[in-house]
Amino acid sequence: MQEESKKIKVTIDNITVDVEPGTTILHAARMIGGDVTPPAMCYYSKLEGSGGKCRTCLVEVAAGSAADPRPMPKLVASCRTGVMDGMVVKNITSDKVADARAGVVEFLLLNHPLDCPICDQAGECHLQDLGYDHGKEGTRYEFKRRTFKKEDIGPYIQLHMTRCILCYRCTYVASQLTDKRVHGVIDRGDHAAISTYISKAIDNDFSGNMIDVCPVGALTDKTFRFKNRVWFTKPVDAHRACTTPGCCGKATLWLRGDEVFRVTARKDQWGEVQSYDGKTGWICNTCRFETKKTSSWTIEGLTEISRHSVIGVNKYKKLEKPEETVVKVMDGHKPKLLMDIHSVSDVNNPEIHLSDINGPAHSNDFKK
Ligand code: SF4
Ligand code: FES
Repeated sequence: MQEESKKIKVTIDNITVDVEPGTTILHAARMIGGDVTPPAMCYYSKLEGSGGKCRTCLVEVAAGSAADPRPMPKLVASCRTGVMDGMVVKNITSDKVADARAGVVEFLLLNHPLDCPICDQAGECHLQDLGYDHGKEGTRYEFKRRTFKKEDIGPYIQLHMTRCILCYRCTYVASQLTDKRVHGVIDRGDHAAISTYISKAIDNDFSGNMIDVCPVGALTDKTFRFKNRVWFTKPVDAHRACTTPGCCGKATLWLRGDEVFRVTARKDQWGEVQSYDGKTGWICNTCRFETKKTSSWTIEGLTEISRHSVIGVNKYKKLEKPEETVVKVMDGHKPKLLMDIHSVSDVNNPEIHLSDINGPAHSNDFKK
């Protein structure tokens, strides 16, 4: 009989949770959820080997374990650090972490163009959210931002290298989902760039998933570019009987009226592609780029969007009319489009000429 693994205790921002041995701090924090969860720009739980590149998930370990409660001398990447029994971690409760994260945001934005108003990723960009939540309003960088020669990487995906934060997620998708990876990170340091090296087209059946995992606007959908702002579209969950092996056929359609502007995989609360029956719900390029008629899909209903996201604005599952209270407040008077305010309020009595009052008007001036 298999021995049941003993759970271990970890405390993150004063909340204790029991987890399996081998769990990372980030996963333990995700089990707690909410603000306690550090942001992650390069880690992607569905991509093996991801994480450890961007440093946005740094946390402070105030006590290493119950057996050795000494603090760790430096902040650690929570996506790559396993928990120990009795470990005490600080994320939002640590000033050091807040300071370091602001520094990481500043670093990631050194060369990143501030072109959100024309970027297709705006509204669903993790770097934009990270900047709002953890960044400072200014930068100390005074030099020219890095630029790259434009590269065409195929008919479906647009590469904007200036926006890339070198998280490597797209290279893991290409290695783990497609037959042959034709792109990668070439060169080193300041020159490092995503490229196909000798201008090859990325056209494998599952290459579109690179767009879904890219946390910024470096890889965008050529069939959707500049067609609409994402918050003007209505996302709905839909499925179809796709015959491509490995495609889950479950997607989010981004509609405007009856027109399908974009098809993406469905995302979970961490912005990662959802899983079904233990398998990640990747979708094929046929579903994503070639199936843009609502008649080809069975629509299930509105996609659940976080209340904090701009995409969620004006998207209602059903219309719930608030209780009408105006009549009650108005002593039984029916609300009119134009009300005579003087009939219900003494303030601004038309008999009183404001120009006759010496100085700013006061409630005493309106007493009868
Ligand atoms: S293109 Fe996007 S997914 Fe690929 S490394 Fe750059 S930021 Fe990451
Ligand atoms: S998410 Fe941990 S280093 Fe990037």
